[in-house]
Amino acid sequence: MCGIVAYIGTKDAYPIIEKGLRRLEYRGYDSAGVAIFDQGLSIVKRQGKVDNMSKAAIAAGLRGRIGIGHTRWATHGEVNDVNAHPHQSGDGRLAIVHNGIIENYDSLKVALEGLGHIFVSETDTEVLVKLIEEVQRQGNLSLEEAVRQASSKVVGAYAIVVIDRDDPTKLVAARRASPLVLGIGENEFFFASDGTPIVEHTKNVVYLESDQVAVARLDGTYSIVNLENEMQTPFIHQLDLEIEQIEKGGYDYFMLKEIHEQPATIADAMRGRVSPEQNLIRLGGLVEHIDRVANADRILIVACGTSWHSGLIGEYLIEDLARMPVEVEYASEFRYRNPVITERDVVIAISQSGETADTLAAVELAKKAGAFCYGIVNVVGSSIARETDAGSYIHAGPEIGVASTKAFTGQVTILSLMAIHLACHRGLIDDARKQMLVNALVNIPSKVEKAIANCAKPVEFIARELYESHNALYLGRGFNFPVALEGALKLKEISYIHAEGYPAAEMKHGPIALIDEDMPVFVIATNQSAYHKIVSNIEQVKARNGMVIAIVLEGDSEISQLADFVIEIPDTEEQFSPLLSVIPLQLLSYHIAVHRGCNVDQPRNLAKSVTVE
Ligand code: G6P
Repeated sequence: MCGIVAYIGTKDAYPIIEKGLRRLEYRGYDSAGVAIFDQGLSIVKRQGKVDNMSKAAIAAGLRGRIGIGHTRWATHGEVNDVNAHPHQSGDGRLAIVHNGIIENYDSLKVALEGLGHIFVSETDTEVLVKLIEEVQRQGNLSLEEAVRQASSKVVGAYAIVVIDRDDPTKLVAARRASPLVLGIGENEFFFASDGTPIVEHTKNVVYLESDQVAVARLDGTYSIVNLENEMQTPFIHQLDLEIEQIEKGGYDYFMLKEIHEQPATIADAMRGRVSPEQNLIRLGGLVEHIDRVANADRILIVACGTSWHSGLIGEYLIEDLARMPVEVEYASEFRYRNPVITERDVVIAISQSGETADTLAAVELAKKAGAFCYGIVNVVGSSIARETDAGSYIHAGPEIGVASTKAFTGQVTILSLMAIHLACHRGLIDDARKQMLVNALVNIPSKVEKAIANCAKPVEFIARELYESHNALYLGRGFNFPVALEGALKLKEISYIHAEGYPAAEMKHGPIALIDEDMPVFVIATNQSAYHKIVSNIEQVKARNGMVIAIVLEGDSEISQLADFVIEIPDTEEQFSPLLSVIPLQLLSYHIAVHRGCNVDQPRNLAKSVTVE
């Protein structure tokens, strides 16, 4: 959802910014632009990917030690060169890059037009830079003071970096809700939407808080104030990120790399939290608060997209094992539907990025109502991680493919640990049962590895057969119903084939009308407890000439006879089967999208981190 990179220091800024923008391109790829200061401000911006902008920037021979860059995911105004960032003040003195949405931009724009400002783009960002220009001019202020004063007039979410042609010794940055990280190097500073553009230069970072204004200067100093102009003492974190984690490592796409990383990332999610020798599950974030969580009246899970699907699996897990009532809500609905939340509720927010605007707002609402908030987050130091009362990181490392894969399995792993932890605390499972569950969990990574290997051939074959389909149906029951939703989402996200996920039995109440020989039906048929019911569902599809692709357990004979194609995965405890059954569905969507010539990592109209409503 827009990526920002900025540099000030002793080196040539443009190559650093361009490389950083490429790392942030997963956040938006409608257009890209840079502003570099040398003798004056040079701005190059182009519709399309960073590559487009880069050709023009190299031709322009941009040089200078201070610069700002942006990759856009459009919110206000169509995708074109004019609406691309950076935007400038009317007198050309200031240039700004912005991530977020200014909600009161309309009224600000009317007021600024009344003062004679002329707008050339349709963006809220241009309103923001002209507001800063006006505040600066009226008060004859320094850039940082103008940004601070302008910030208090703005409603909405923003992370901005501003450069001043008439004082080219500093960069000024500010944020509210949208993320921004300050990187501190040797006589150089970086601002970026996340750590990925910074990590190869320095590991020392400050995660700016909401309503802070930071100044980074050419003389090697920096300072941070709040909106009341009080000096803030920054906490310098060490980035827990390695360059290899943000490169493709020989894979064609990040998504494929991330699918293949899952044996390791699931193991990382369990590291230090599970011990089969001691028959122990211990989720650090939960230990201190176990009484509050285990005695809650109910658990509410809030999330969006793929994280919502893992939340749904969490509901099945926690209700089944810990016997606590769980409700799963789309964060965007929850925050606006006047929900009943009490101090005896526990709210679990699930988010890969930790920045999704709706999920963050749902956490804020829940906190106001006195609920205890627990975060299940991937990005360390992200807003949701900081806003929640406690939580567990999934430790999946950077997920760059827009379609979430390893974050999903990481989230489901944490939810599995949580369900067992709660069940034990509530005295609901004996040691023998616990040992079975613990053993099953620790064996998941090697089984995922096996599933990936088993799938390779059938998945490629099936993808070749099906890539020209226009529709697809995904069916699953119980723990695998959310996996059907996730399989359908993966397919539509990256291959643009219309797909729907349904509880298998619910098929009879509508989707069955769609079934004919052109409708592939993916059936997750691994549930032992409902095996015969799934067999009948498959027979119902076959009776209407539907084509069935079944995910079955190794050695299955019955469904293999019925289905057109089968993909075998290893067996495990039924509760953990989503961690295995999702693998072939991720790989199928990947290969289908590749056959269709789609850009798997950057599907049209989507962005990885949705920091706007
Ligand atoms: C976007 C991404 C999805 C993701 C969803 C929620 O739509 O494209 O992959 O599942 O946001 O993101 P979060 O970071 O909160 O998990």
